Amino acid sequence: MSAMAWIGSDHVRHDGTEKVRGEPIYGADRTAEAMTYAVPVSATVGRGRITALDTTAAQRVPGVLAVLTHENLDRLHPADFAYGVGSASTSYQPMQDAVVAYRGQPIALVVAETLEAAAEAAGLVTAGYKVEPFAVTLDDPAAESVDQAQAVPTFPVLEIGEGDRLLDQAPVVVDATYGTPAQHHNGLELLSTVAEWKDGSLLIHEGTQAAGRVRHALANQLGIPMEMVRAVAPYLGGGFGQRTGQTFNTVLAALAARRIGRPVKLIVPRADVFHMVHFRPASRHRIRLGARDDGTITSLVHDAHAQTSRHDLMPFWGPEVSSRMYGIPNFRGTTTLVRLDTQTPGYMRAPMEMVTMFAVESALDELAERLHVDPVELRRRHDTATDPLTGRPFSSRRLKQCLDRGAERFGWSRRDPAAGSMRADDGSLVGWGMAAGCYPGIASAAGSRIRLHENGTADVAVSGHEMGQGIRTVIALVAAESLGLPPDRIRITIGDTRVAPQPETGGSWGTATAVPAVRDAANDIRAQLHQIAAARGESVATVDVTECRLADGRLVGPDNSGPLMTGLLMAAGRSSVEATGQYYAPGQQPSEAPTLAPARKSAVMADVGSAFVGPAFPGFVTWSYIAHFVEVRVGARVRRPRVTRMLSVIDCGRVISRRTATSQALGGLVWGISTALSEESIVDPRYGGFLNSNLGDYKMPVNADIPTLDVDFIDEPDTSFSAFGIKGLGEVVHVGAAAAITNAIYHATGVRVRDLPVHIEDLMTETSR
Ligand code: MOS
Repeated sequence: MSAMAWIGSDHVRHDGTEKVRGEPIYGADRTAEAMTYAVPVSATVGRGRITALDTTAAQRVPGVLAVLTHENLDRLHPADFAYGVGSASTSYQPMQDAVVAYRGQPIALVVAETLEAAAEAAGLVTAGYKVEPFAVTLDDPAAESVDQAQAVPTFPVLEIGEGDRLLDQAPVVVDATYGTPAQHHNGLELLSTVAEWKDGSLLIHEGTQAAGRVRHALANQLGIPMEMVRAVAPYLGGGFGQRTGQTFNTVLAALAARRIGRPVKLIVPRADVFHMVHFRPASRHRIRLGARDDGTITSLVHDAHAQTSRHDLMPFWGPEVSSRMYGIPNFRGTTTLVRLDTQTPGYMRAPMEMVTMFAVESALDELAERLHVDPVELRRRHDTATDPLTGRPFSSRRLKQCLDRGAERFGWSRRDPAAGSMRADDGSLVGWGMAAGCYPGIASAAGSRIRLHENGTADVAVSGHEMGQGIRTVIALVAAESLGLPPDRIRITIGDTRVAPQPETGGSWGTATAVPAVRDAANDIRAQLHQIAAARGESVATVDVTECRLADGRLVGPDNSGPLMTGLLMAAGRSSVEATGQYYAPGQQPSEAPTLAPARKSAVMADVGSAFVGPAFPGFVTWSYIAHFVEVRVGARVRRPRVTRMLSVIDCGRVISRRTATSQALGGLVWGISTALSEESIVDPRYGGFLNSNLGDYKMPVNADIPTLDVDFIDEPDTSFSAFGIKGLGEVVHVGAAAAITNAIYHATGVRVRDLPVHIEDLMTETSR
């Protein structure tokens, strides 16, 4: 491969070999001298107060070092909620008093010499409670409803034109309500933290998407200077939004380690993961679409309800999405937050977009049928070059190309629009459905540092977290292309607050953020090399280097064309050159990420918790798009739905790594199938908490549930949003996928399922019973 063609290639995953060898260090893999192990104990009532707590039996277990409860835990400074202005995933701090805010919150932490002793002792802690009433479902009368526009002014009621008036006048109206359940991230890697104190400094190893936020929030809550905290997160076994803020398990590990004066490893058990950190809130969407008889949609009214907690208002911005996907001239959108007795919800892959577009894309399917218009055609007709909300042009929008290519490749023109009209040879019902999706283009400020060595290797440190998506691969490809080195000669450090600022990585902005920061530093390296060459009276035709040698006292490359980069270093007597780089999103001012600014040339890079902007930028608005095409089969008698074919075409701008982009896309579709057909966190108003808090009862697809999936990329650059042409990819894939599946199920069965996930009993009709 030529040295300049790494970007866009299908080159192997940068960390592929080490992952296969089991070498990457996840949070729980950190080893330390005199390690101890902590296991939490959780509350078993839906809400109330602890009236008695007996830890004597736990204390007697050999090896137990401490049992921390609200009676002896250090008091904390307040936690600032990340989705307000702070860095913590909730403002609620359990174990500061006898309050039980929700079932499953931690009420004690046992620390012991071994994991076994800690687990045994945790099982011996007993508690008595005074139980208070609680609410865990959206329609519980005891839940408090909050008008988001009043409570969170940054998310006002959205209005474009006259949504209500045009709806009243429309001859064709679809008015339907769609529901989505709570879901919990279930990464294979459990939440795990190793906390170590040394001379007043705190070192945290943890799988987080936001090492900078962990650092900020810990410093704030513990009352120590930020410089005394270092957070290291080289790998995560699945982020997906669960780890975008500092979570309470980290505080517990830090407090426990300080108390006993030894390192503490806290691996949160699966059941506690369901209650320790945030999750996808349950939501409900009333969608009203008004259309003329000729098939023109004149109005969309979207009233959303979303779950939040008693202690925080987690904003929900569904109307920010539904108003902007299509060229519909009249819109009104409201959001009601419903305070329930659970931990605070938060981001989970395409948090607002997935649930909103499930509702919108289902309603469009209902409207298409009413209008006798093909659902692909209905969407094509409502394409728009400008953002309805701001009136600004989209920097790029290739939704129509996604729809056209997808329809063509899927064979959509062979579809008989009548529901129930298609059968497989075995008698099962066949349905073809489609839906589209969008996800905002977001980018974050980032910092980087590159050191190029004379031996032809480079160390790259950059803002960013490896959440499983393979971000090291895009960093390596871009560094390789920029420096003229093969990717395997590039060592990458990310997620470490000591080497580069580590603001949150999420929102599908990882690639578009890390890549330009790396390029910025690489450009500086190239400039330095040119200076070295010029000082030696040599011209550098190319800064590519894969090999160098001396000939007649001069350094030449393999083709004798001139001195090469590391050869230059050798000749100049330098062992390395170093440069720092930075990146700001379009229009982003350094004042929006103030601590990045001095990073440019300073030795110690400062840190920021969060520094992202989008999708509206000066002069344009950016979104990624997708079109999904799905075939399902539903058993004629026992109406079990299965996805048998899925094709999705994506407009994510330019693809940097075909290898990792494809696997991101496949993962998003698997999750779409999961969301449509299996995944839900079950609540019971009698008990509170989440009942199916284990991988046996929290249903996710296995290999047998997943057919051959086909993903395709438009792969055309968006050069307004990013000099590299990149838009975001990870999350858009999940958006619309569930609606495409339920639309296909409708086409197969004539049954419209408006509440996710689909259960077999939803599809049982009189004739099939
Ligand atoms: Mo994401 S849900 O911002 O990791």
